[in-house]
Amino acid sequence: MDASRSLEKKEYNEAAVRTAASLESARSEIFQSFKGREIKPDRLFRFDRTGLGVAREYERMGNRPVSQALQERADRLGFTLEHIGLTIGSVVHGIDLRGGPDEESIRFVRDTLLERKVVFFREQPLEEDELLAFGRCFGELDAFPFGQTGEDPFILEIRHDERYPGYENGWHTDVTWMECPSLGSIAQCIEIPPIGGDTLFSDSHACYLGLPVDLRDRLQHLHGINDYRNFLVAPAPGLPTELIERIKAEIPFGVHHPLLRTHPETGKTALYLHGGFLRHDSLYDERTGEALEKSEAEEIVRRLLQQHQRPEYVCRFRWEPGSIAFWDNRAVQHYAASDYYPHRRILRRVTVSGDRPYYDPPPQEQALL
Ligand SMILES: [Fe+2]
Repeated sequence: MDASRSLEKKEYNEAAVRTAASLESARSEIFQSFKGREIKPDRLFRFDRTGLGVAREYERMGNRPVSQALQERADRLGFTLEHIGLTIGSVVHGIDLRGGPDEESIRFVRDTLLERKVVFFREQPLEEDELLAFGRCFGELDAFPFGQTGEDPFILEIRHDERYPGYENGWHTDVTWMECPSLGSIAQCIEIPPIGGDTLFSDSHACYLGLPVDLRDRLQHLHGINDYRNFLVAPAPGLPTELIERIKAEIPFGVHHPLLRTHPETGKTALYLHGGFLRHDSLYDERTGEALEKSEAEEIVRRLLQQHQRPEYVCRFRWEPGSIAFWDNRAVQHYAASDYYPHRRILRRVTVSGDRPYYDPPPQEQALL
């Protein structure tokens, strides 16, 4: 038969129906040999393996978005959970954050954050002092030296408009230039653009589990140097040299962190990097102190940042005035879509103090390699 011959429409459709029936029969035989939920990457011929990290993370979560114990607590407290991604992101409905929620509700928020990595709330018109008080329920707060503050210096105002376009559109986890980067960030929406302005969150645990084995192996003891100076100069070129020198004298820069981070509360491993602060050519093996070739280091950073942007790992949050997002910087990366220029977008943020990142490979994850 001439493979290049052209078919009449009717003839083509008859052949398509026959082909679909034959393929369905052949595939059903193959799939019948699968057992339960067992993942067999070599047989999932129609399943792009980049998504396997989500399946592995979900499996580790017991194949449910939250533990049964947490769901029972939600039911008892009268809260409803709306899950956005399979392994990441839930909206907590039915809670009022104004005036300081009770201790049990705070513990619930904290535990939901640990299980879901980022939690959202709707219709929470908190004043600045109430947002500060809510943040302090989870620990001390960090002041942010490089942005516009609210009335209180612990409030960061994230304001973009025609004169000052949004620039947080790169995958990152916050403030990795700090020796002890913030545990989490809590942002409240004050004003949204008419279209756009969403924030996207990516599951750094699932991203890690979805990496090819050779890359996971290579990352095991790699560290990199994080530096805020690009961030300081890039949004406003032309800052006086004396001012930059004074800041450098006051705020330390050049801190090293591992590319893999053990979550201090859940014990899970996450990819840990900020594409803007990490010097892409600065990777070295922490055991020997040996630096990687520039080309290899840059290639590794590129692949890790690319992993976070895969849609399988991402949940997307549409802001409304009064919406609040609380993300765990030890478990997720985020990306503010800068798709609303010249419109205005205003958020308020507080950050909860964290600890020094470390990597301690747990035995069960070693077995996954
Ligand atoms: Fe950020």
